[in-house]
Amino acid sequence: MHTFGRFADHVSLLSGAELYPLLVTTIGEIIYEELPAFMERTGKKTLRVLEVGVLRNLDDDHLKGDGHSTLAFARLLNEHPGSKYVGIDLEPHEARRAVDSEGLGDFCDFYAGDSVATMEELKIDGEKFDVIYLDADNDGAATMREYLLALDLIEHPGLIMGDDMNTDHREVRKGRVLIPFLREDGATFKLRKRHTPWDTRDILVQEIS
Ligand SMILES: C[S@@+](CC[C@H](N)C(=O)[O-])C[C@H]1O[C@@H](n2cnc3c(N)ncnc32)[C@H](O)[C@@H]1O
Repeated sequence: MHTFGRFADHVSLLSGAELYPLLVTTIGEIIYEELPAFMERTGKKTLRVLEVGVLRNLDDDHLKGDGHSTLAFARLLNEHPGSKYVGIDLEPHEARRAVDSEGLGDFCDFYAGDSVATMEELKIDGEKFDVIYLDADNDGAATMREYLLALDLIEHPGLIMGDDMNTDHREVRKGRVLIPFLREDGATFKLRKRHTPWDTRDILVQEIS
């Protein structure tokens, strides 16, 4: 259990309804900070985004727990005409429905299939992306394989991000191989915090120069 120390002095003054938005950070908030800052730094006017592991359910618990990242990317890219979104998932149908329901489907493509196999196909096709977001299987080795393929698929400069990169969480496992590897390698990256109602998730943000 965590304490949300930064709010500790004020917590007793707030009701539950007032407190909740302060404590929960969705991936959308992080996407809305990191991507515009990356565009500003690099001068990119449009982005090609690859998301590995897409929105699986539109309900509120999945917004709090997963983040609804697909909608966050699509809404942001819609503000930058000429941008492109590609999503990979074993079951991308719910994400397809979600972007279509907001009229954002025209610049979004979804591939139904295994993350690693599909990324390998994108690599063979010579595809490149400015931003790659890893959020598929809860498995450290699989995420490591996706990361190595992301290095082949990323533009330079590019941004590789990943959800659930905690190394010491009982259930969250995506970062268990990758984060120690990056540390050992002396790589430059940051881990941002995303607060769910239940725990705190580390978000990898790495600019590839
Ligand atoms: C945590 S959810 C993604 C949440 C989403 N990024 C969001 O913010 O709403 C993980 C997704 O990865 C997909 N997935 C799991 N293993 C996969 C694999 N081997 N290949 C492709 N997708 C996979 C699941 O179907 C699920 O939709």
